[in-house]
Amino acid sequence: MNTQPGCEAASDLRPAVPLLITLKGISKSYAEVAALQDVDLTIPGGTIFGIIGKSGAGKSTLLRIISLLESPDAGEVYYGDERVDTLRGRELLERRRRMGMIFQNFNLLGSRNVSGNIAYPLEIAGMHKKQIYERVEELLELVDIQDKRKARLRELSGGQKQRVAIARALAANPEVLFCDEATSALDPQTTRSILALIRELQEKLKITVALITHQMEVIRGVCREVAVLDDGRIVEHGAVDAVFDDPQTAAAKELVYVE
Ligand SMILES: Nc1ncnc2c1ncn2[C@@H]1O[C@H](COP(=O)(O)OP(=O)(O)OP(=O)(O)O)[C@@H](O)[C@H]1O
Ligand SMILES: [Mg+2]
Repeated sequence: MNTQPGCEAASDLRPAVPLLITLKGISKSYAEVAALQDVDLTIPGGTIFGIIGKSGAGKSTLLRIISLLESPDAGEVYYGDERVDTLRGRELLERRRRMGMIFQNFNLLGSRNVSGNIAYPLEIAGMHKKQIYERVEELLELVDIQDKRKARLRELSGGQKQRVAIARALAANPEVLFCDEATSALDPQTTRSILALIRELQEKLKITVALITHQMEVIRGVCREVAVLDDGRIVEHGAVDAVFDDPQTAAAKELVYVE
């Protein structure tokens, strides 16, 4: 039997304890630009956590570091008690297999149909064909696009494409889902349906979700806590209601009061 991560049935791999993520003293520069400066942050397990900030504040950089796509120049990243920013090679790959990511532009494979896109990470994980078929059917149902299983991507709406991307991101039963502006290309109604889906999946699968967005209604709609990034620093962090009802910093006020 194949026991690689992502190869068990859906119910077997749900994290018993939702993943808590801790960042300590994270800094990252690109040439002259200090994209992140001494960022400390705790993302509670099993909730939807929002990160906001104006363009260039460092949100995507932070998400790339949390998701181990990039290494910080200084600082540490912990998943639970395990330090993960130092992982390399196979250990890093295996850790990355246990996370899902979705983006504004979906990042789907145009050469494959809907089922083929969802199957892709399972093929890479070495899952058997029959198991892949069963898992893909399960995922199609989870994101409610069973009727599109054989569709080409060009036949889908933006919302449907994002559903495919979510199904693919969840294929290997991740502990954490990272969303970088996942709803920014969608109209308000489709945004709401994708958010409802993310919230439903978070509750059902008990995963940790970290999402960055410039849409304040996204944060209000689904997040429990929010952190405000400004010029590479976390300037505010707290419960969504507290930050939105009584923002303390100029950066937070600018974001919150625009709505
Ligand atoms: N690979 C890179 N090379 C050089 N500079 C970069 C790179 N990635 C990010 N930066 C710079 O770091 C800063 C933070 O960028 P980042 O993409 O994290 O911002 P952001 O908050 O996600 O912005 P947006 O809302 O526009 O997506 C910016 O000044 C950006 O130009
Ligand atoms: Mg960005």
